[in-house]
Amino acid sequence: MIAVLNGVNLNMLGRRDPAQYGTLTLSELEGQVYAWAGELRVTARCLQTNHEGAYIDQIHEAIGWSRGMIVNPGAWTHYSYAIRDALEIVEAPVVEVHLSDIAQREEWRRRSVIGDVVDHTISGQGPDGYRQALAWLAAALADG
Ligand code: DQA
Repeated sequence: MIAVLNGVNLNMLGRRDPAQYGTLTLSELEGQVYAWAGELRVTARCLQTNHEGAYIDQIHEAIGWSRGMIVNPGAWTHYSYAIRDALEIVEAPVVEVHLSDIAQREEWRRRSVIGDVVDHTISGQGPDGYRQALAWLAAALADG
């Protein structure tokens, strides 16, 4: 099982700055994730929260039930050392995904405080970034 953990404000997808984040809603994106997972012959479970402590609980719990994680912590990416520390505990492979290209946006978005504790990062690919992350994890899990 792959955990797909979306963080703060990602429940507003579809209504939130479509030029950056596209027009899919979160439930449509999650539907795509489940379909892509099926094609890749892996299983996925998608969760979302706007609460940092709840996100950390989800990471801790997913250590118990997942073989890999896809994380998009939203704005927490840029400043939450607490989420960084939680991800550092995860032994399974973790892929960081951003819909928009954080390297090409405002200065404060260019830094990811989780970047050095994840195994792979995909940024600026829109929803397809989640498919790429699933494919990367499926390959990593098949190898290991
Ligand atoms: C985001 C990029 C972040 O800078 C932003 O705060 C988000 C979404 C993305 O998916 O592009 O909420 O993580």
